[in-house]
Amino acid sequence: MLRVVVMNAKGGCGKTTVATNLASFCACQGYGTALFDYDVQGSSSRWLKARPAQRPPVHGVAAWQPPAAGTTRAWQMRIPEHTRYVITDTPAGHAGLDIEDRVADSDVVLIPVLPSSIDIHSTADFIRDLLLEGKARARNKTLAIISNRTRIRTRALEKLDRFLNSLEIPVIGQIRDTQHYLNAAEQGLGVHELKESSARQDAHTWEQVLEWLQAQEERRGAGVTPASLALPVATGGPSH
Ligand SMILES: Nc1ncnc2c1ncn2[C@@H]1O[C@H](COP(=O)(O)OP(=O)(O)O)[C@@H](O)[C@H]1O
Ligand SMILES: [Mg+2]
Repeated sequence: MLRVVVMNAKGGCGKTTVATNLASFCACQGYGTALFDYDVQGSSSRWLKARPAQRPPVHGVAAWQPPAAGTTRAWQMRIPEHTRYVITDTPAGHAGLDIEDRVADSDVVLIPVLPSSIDIHSTADFIRDLLLEGKARARNKTLAIISNRTRIRTRALEKLDRFLNSLEIPVIGQIRDTQHYLNAAEQGLGVHELKESSARQDAHTWEQVLEWLQAQEERRGAGVTPASLALPVATGGPSH
């Protein structure tokens, strides 16, 4: 089982988009998939409610809610047998986001980033929080970036690239900016499940992300320590 948490303190960068598209993609490949939602806004949970019954199922847990009357937290948080991927969506901001616990509960942290200068700088700060507060490297967690709505290469993006390189954090996917993501979100689908032929190229994004995750599973199974563990935590970040 691989536990993937989607995190970035910045709102609107695509956490729910990544969590829901990845969950439906994994389910459609025939893997047992669970989707945990820690955001009180419940966007992932709403997406799952809208998901048509005939689509491959995803087991949803509204983790931000208290357990239903008469049940325990352990029961609410249970993961069905044969689950291969556990994907966790998290809220924006620092208040409701328990970085330390979410990192501790995961194997891989996926960080969606928008290409604006403001987003890039706040993401660099967030990566520092993951490393220092979340002790992500010390706990042998793997961090990776997914760049979202990237149309043009900006100078800020190049600075982020250098910062990520210095930390050996890979960019494992690029999400196109397209209406398909809005349409899919409304219907409880992933973009790869849309009928429009123009959405087909977007399926490739999720294929790539899943391939990368599977390589992580193999690496973890083989007990290989990432070379980047030996690196010190950079304190510089992209210069302003
Ligand atoms: N690549 C994209 N193309 C088009 N719309 C997108 C894309 N990524 C996100 N959106 C839309 O932007 C809004 C914010 O994305 P969301 O995934 O909810 O961010 P977060 O969960 O980080 O707050 C949503 O309405 C979502 O459908
Ligand atoms: Mg969200």
